[in-house]
This record gives sequence, C-alpha cells and structure tokens, in this order.
Amino acid sequence: MAKPTYLGLLNAISVAETAAEPIFTTWADSTKDKKLAQTLRFVAMREGEHGVAFAKRMLELGYEVRRPASAGENPAVKIAGSNKTDLQKFRALKFGKVSGKADVFDNMFADKNIDPITGGLLGRYIAEERDTGRLLAAEYERLLAVDKKAKKAAAKKRAKKQAEKK
Ligand SMILES: [Fe+2]
Repeated sequence: MAKPTYLGLLNAISVAETAAEPIFTTWADSTKDKKLAQTLRFVAMREGEHGVAFAKRMLELGYEVRRPASAGENPAVKIAGSNKTDLQKFRALKFGKVSGKADVFDNMFADKNIDPITGGLLGRYIAEERDTGRLLAAEYERLLAVDKKAKKAAAKKRAKKQAEKK
C-alpha cells in the first residue's frame, strides 16, 4: 500500500492534541471554580483522547507518530498553572471567543484521498474541537458575568460606607 498523503496531518493532530491535554488539566487543578474545572477536565479528556485516537489510526495504517524533540515546558501550561485569574487565563490562552469565520479545521478535508475510517475520525475530531471552542467561550462569558456582579456589589458596598462616614 502506498504511503497515505495525509499522514502528516494525522501526525500533526496527534502531537498537538497530546500537548494540549496538560494545559487543561493544569488549569483545572488551579481554579477554584468547580464548574469551570469540570469543563476543563472534559476538554482535557477530549484532547488526550484525540492524541491517542490519531496515533492509533496511524498505527492501523502502519506508521508510528513522530514526536518532535521536547521543546521544554509548554508556555501555555505555564500560564494555565499560574496565579492569574481565570478570566486572564482565558484571554492569555485565547479561549474566550469562538472564531466566527475560517478556522484551522476548514482545510482538513481538502485531501480527496482520505479513507473512510480516517475520514470518520477526522470528522468527529473537527466537530468536537468546535464544540470545545463553544464550551470554553460559554464559560468565559459566565465568568465575565460573575466578575461584573462582584464588582458592582463591591462598588455598592464602598458607596454605602462612604455615605455612613458623612
Ligand atoms: Fe484540540
């Protein structure tokens, strides 16, 4: 069997997804917000599973994943575990908004030779990634609203204190 033309794509996805998993587990471990933590663990699970599923598909095709030599600590994992607020992490990691137009997934089916099993996996992957984007954006919006409410309450408290002083 000739070497599939889309091996590079499968390899790139497996490597990127495996690298993304610890961003979300690290963040989940560091947040105090239980709902966010749950979402982050779900996303981490998806990332890790994608990493394995694509590596497994490559093995079924007769090839092994080539992992790049470790580039040291992933800066995104560092941000995820830092003591920035969750909102700051969303902004720093660019997970707060869903990309409305073109995204990196649009061209993944451009290769017309993709076999049906790989195509099925790729389709599920793309749909899950976009769903993840929506889940994260919804969490960002929820936390923004929580933050706004807390700031409003704090301002009210300050104003009341001021009024009492007079
Ligand atoms: Fe991903």
